[in-house]
Amino acid sequence: MKVAVLGAAGGIGQALSLLLKTQLPAGSELSLYDVAPVVPGVAVDLSHIPTDVKVTGFGKDDLASALVGSDIVLIPAGVPRKPGMDRSDLFNMNAGIVKNLVQGVADNCPDACVGIITNPVNTTVPIAAEVLKQNGCYDKRKLFGVTTLDVIRSEAFVAELRGLNPANVTVPVIGGHSGTTILPLLSQVEGVEFTEQEINDLTHRIQNAGTEVVEAKAGGGSATLSMGQAAARFCLSLVKGLQGQETVECTYVEGPGDHATFFAQPVRLGKNGVEEVLPYGELSAFEKQCMDEMLDGLKSDIQKGIDFV
Ligand code: NAD
Ligand code: LMR
Repeated sequence: MKVAVLGAAGGIGQALSLLLKTQLPAGSELSLYDVAPVVPGVAVDLSHIPTDVKVTGFGKDDLASALVGSDIVLIPAGVPRKPGMDRSDLFNMNAGIVKNLVQGVADNCPDACVGIITNPVNTTVPIAAEVLKQNGCYDKRKLFGVTTLDVIRSEAFVAELRGLNPANVTVPVIGGHSGTTILPLLSQVEGVEFTEQEINDLTHRIQNAGTEVVEAKAGGGSATLSMGQAAARFCLSLVKGLQGQETVECTYVEGPGDHATFFAQPVRLGKNGVEEVLPYGELSAFEKQCMDEMLDGLKSDIQKGIDFV
């Protein structure tokens, strides 16, 4: 497996690269690309960890070399939020960055699976799809918005509330990745009952957890360490799938389009990327209402990405 991380010198990029250096299967390659001049140093630093994962750093003029032969490309390149901003406020800065990097994917590794982390994810994933379509290499089974952070947060918060081991808690999270488009299906958490008040409070906390971090970091950026963990979990599941050991993760993909062209829901990952977009089951009355209220916003986020390209 060759995994490329674009934006590898950033807060997420470094945490993610560290986790991949220690957890990718033996014999893998990790290719680190960033426009920041520190990236070769990040690669040298990681290369001193004794695992059988070869790490190489690539500077701003070496995108092609970083990407050639990649099986998976993860993109956390771009600007994070500061207090008072919405994820959509990042569009002007990040849309062009994602567009250019995905053009690099089309030029150098058109068959790779691409995981977009850069915000606003609801919009940057449709941007990536349009760029790949323009280059004749779009395969909807291989393009993902990484929404795993919403899943791990839900697991952490539910476990914390009920005093459970988070390893035993599973919470599907569907929709998109901003505000009310993030819809945790708390009615489907096995063996746990919540009061109406708890469901309201937990849903609100999960939907605003990114802002909780942004405010706590007080101008120093947004979630990087938990996001590094989330992206590593997603990437390692995808690696397993590509190697023939199927796994399930919630992720933002082009699905059957029942609600919106792109939608996060559980997906079976296998040799071709998305093997099957899985049904997310019965929604509670509260979840149905949340879904109805978020769809217009999600659709307009998607359209904004299409229009941009
Ligand atoms: P950061 O500023 O710490 O790092 C971003 C990195 O991207 C920097 O090293 C920068 O040099 C690099 N970069 C900028 N333009 C580039 C380009 N054209 N090519 C390659 N590299 C480039 O930011 P961060 O905290 O790591 O966050 C990165 C992005 O991830 C933000 O947009 C943030 O909103 C998003 N994010 C998404 C999620 C999610 O759940 N999907 C979670 C957290 C953050
Ligand atoms: C998050 O959910 O933490 C990220 O999307 C970053 C942000 O801006 O909230």
